[in-house]
Amino acid sequence: MHYDFDTVVDRTTSLSVKWNKDVIKSVCGNPDAEPFWVADMDFPVAGEVAHAARDLAQHAIFGYPHAENQRQVFCNWAKMRHQLTLAEQEVVISQGVLNSIAVLVEQLTRTGEGIIVPLPAYQPFLRIVRNLERELLSWPLLYDEESHRFSLDWAKLEALADKAKMLIFCSPHNPSGLVFDHETLTRLCKVAKEHDLTIICDEIHADLNFTDHVCLHTVAKEVGATAITCMAPSKTFNIAGEHYSATLFTDAGMRSGFVHRLSQLFITETSTFATTLAIASYEHGLPWLQQLLGYLQKNASMVEAFLAERVPQLVFIKPGASFIGFVDCSKIMDLVEKDRAAHPELYDEKASPGGGLLSRFFGQRAGLAFNDGTWFGGDAYQNFVRLNYGTPTSNVQRALGKMEEAVNFLVATYES
Ligand SMILES: Cc1ncc(COP(=O)(O)O)c(C=O)c1O
Repeated sequence: MHYDFDTVVDRTTSLSVKWNKDVIKSVCGNPDAEPFWVADMDFPVAGEVAHAARDLAQHAIFGYPHAENQRQVFCNWAKMRHQLTLAEQEVVISQGVLNSIAVLVEQLTRTGEGIIVPLPAYQPFLRIVRNLERELLSWPLLYDEESHRFSLDWAKLEALADKAKMLIFCSPHNPSGLVFDHETLTRLCKVAKEHDLTIICDEIHADLNFTDHVCLHTVAKEVGATAITCMAPSKTFNIAGEHYSATLFTDAGMRSGFVHRLSQLFITETSTFATTLAIASYEHGLPWLQQLLGYLQKNASMVEAFLAERVPQLVFIKPGASFIGFVDCSKIMDLVEKDRAAHPELYDEKASPGGGLLSRFFGQRAGLAFNDGTWFGGDAYQNFVRLNYGTPTSNVQRALGKMEEAVNFLVATYES
């Protein structure tokens, strides 16, 4: 069966945050900019998943759900997609990755204790640590400005590990797009074990890995490290608005502690819609996902090739997974600064509190909304924007053309 990822669907009427003009403005200053920011895709779900949702909607009674087979459905998926053999008892179903991580941080660490987070980071990780008044121990990835590759800084990790109780890792990594092999994860788990660190590994993008994904859960068990792994159908099948996740524990005590805490807070149950979509996706979504992965890789290659040929000032750091990637804009920063000096009204921080210099530049000069690099960890990432190419190729092509025009405008106007 052929799945259609090319048709452009109007999302402006469906409560989509990505397409909401007020929110777009807050990210880039221009409410009419086309959205290539927040991490959801512009593709309809697989037919079977849409049917399951339609059947439920038509049934028109939305009482409390009970789905006995949820954990088994997830185990079957993990086996099918990742050759990961899990026992049902290792899995807890909960209401999303972020609230699971927040509960785990609250439960497994105390106020003031150190938590290592690699930077750049998916910003909510930083907020979880700060909101719960733990100490943020930043672990910046190394960045090679020649090859435009990020990598892990092992010496820095060793230096931080003694001060830390926990590490919040992300694999595949958002936003660098790094995927981690068995050897790397083994080394990570060994450091964690040696320093008695609990790893929380966010693997929400794992199913979207373009190569074989190595699950930290497996590696941690091999090494004897303590790890908690968060997986979810939300990114994989484009159902992120229906919060649902599966959390895996190497430690049975931690698992029962988590279940107990969820039940104390009355947040054990996933919603009827979320559960229905998750089960339908895991049971029927693999062929859709396989085609999606091909489509995403073509989009990513197109972005990389177009920028390399036509806009060499911008470098796309092609990710090894998923539908989001950093664009290194270092070479245009001076010109963007000149534009800001000449037109401060376009770069009004109050109009776009969720943005930065570059997202305002692309918002105002290209009509494109990207996440600004600063969102992922502050000024150190101000030379980057994150581009979401999980959208029909025609949209990506149009965006690339607008990026080229905006950069040409900068060069023509400010380069003397
Ligand atoms: C790395 C990562 N973790 C978690 C989330 C959000 O997960 P959830 O909606 O299940 O809380 C996202 C969404 O973009 C993400 O990229």
